[in-house]
Amino acid sequence: MSEQSEPIVAVDGLVAEYDARGGVAVALAGVDLRISRGERLGIVGESGSGKTTLALALGGLLPGNCRLSSGVVSSCGTTVRAGDGRTARADELRTLRREKIAFIAQDPAASLDPTTRIGRQFAVAMKAQGRPMTPDEIDEALSAVRIERPGEVRRLYPHQVSGGMAQRIAIAMAVARRPQLLIADEPTAALDVEVRSEVLSLIVRLAAEHDITLIWVSHDIPAVRRWCTRAVVMNDGRVVEQGPVDRVLVEPEHPYARELVNALRAGAGAGEQR
Ligand SMILES: Nc1ncnc2c1ncn2[C@@H]1O[C@H](COP(=O)(O)OP(=O)(O)O)[C@@H](O)[C@H]1O
Ligand SMILES: [Mg+2]
Repeated sequence: MSEQSEPIVAVDGLVAEYDARGGVAVALAGVDLRISRGERLGIVGESGSGKTTLALALGGLLPGNCRLSSGVVSSCGTTVRAGDGRTARADELRTLRREKIAFIAQDPAASLDPTTRIGRQFAVAMKAQGRPMTPDEIDEALSAVRIERPGEVRRLYPHQVSGGMAQRIAIAMAVARRPQLLIADEPTAALDVEVRSEVLSLIVRLAAEHDITLIWVSHDIPAVRRWCTRAVVMNDGRVVEQGPVDRVLVEPEHPYARELVNALRAGAGAGEQR
């Protein structure tokens, strides 16, 4: 099989457990998932269903109290955990995180350093990743996320910009790394409704422009339907349904998926389009 036709993400029977105060919490209870290059996959499911754990597992980014106790996870050609329990070496994980995967977190402010001017942290981050950028190139990257007067914005501190702008800066930094896989974990949850759709369309447009496979974790069913090609529904640490958005998010077969889609559709209100 050529590298192109191999799935960019392959997960088989993945089990993840957290050591928590009250004992062990099973966050992933046997997840199977394949993602092809160029897909835009939406992951939906209620809070606690394991979405973030799955996303972090793809980058080998789980916290120390989380154990992948069974199954396989590989992404962008790196086997994070093999079926025999062997895990990727530290240098393989570093390469995966630095060169192949980028994350956009829910809270943009959390991904920016409050003590450093935006332009400087952009430059430092890119240099650390072996892709130094000139101020002009940074301005270009900021313009690509529709930031006007990027030269002025570069001189600001994160607290001096709005949440929507901070998220667009985080997106610009993630895309500037030219990852193969971009994982956005509820990237608009903290934003106003008006800003949300702009941020989403930006992520989707940039991903398409730069051949980046997108995984997008969201509660926003209408938006996933509009922007993603395929959807996965998670419940209690399992993928209960997956397929094209127009089937899974419109006529789901699994009872839980049906309930979730109906609940979120009702909650989203009549104003949602599509
Ligand atoms: N850092 C953690 N320590 C202990 N348990 C955790 C931690 N993170 C998540 N969990 C548990 O794992 C399960 C899945 O969580 P998570 O992957 O964050 O779900 P989601 O992103 O869908 O809300 C939950 O039951 C949660 O309590
Ligand atoms: Mg989450």
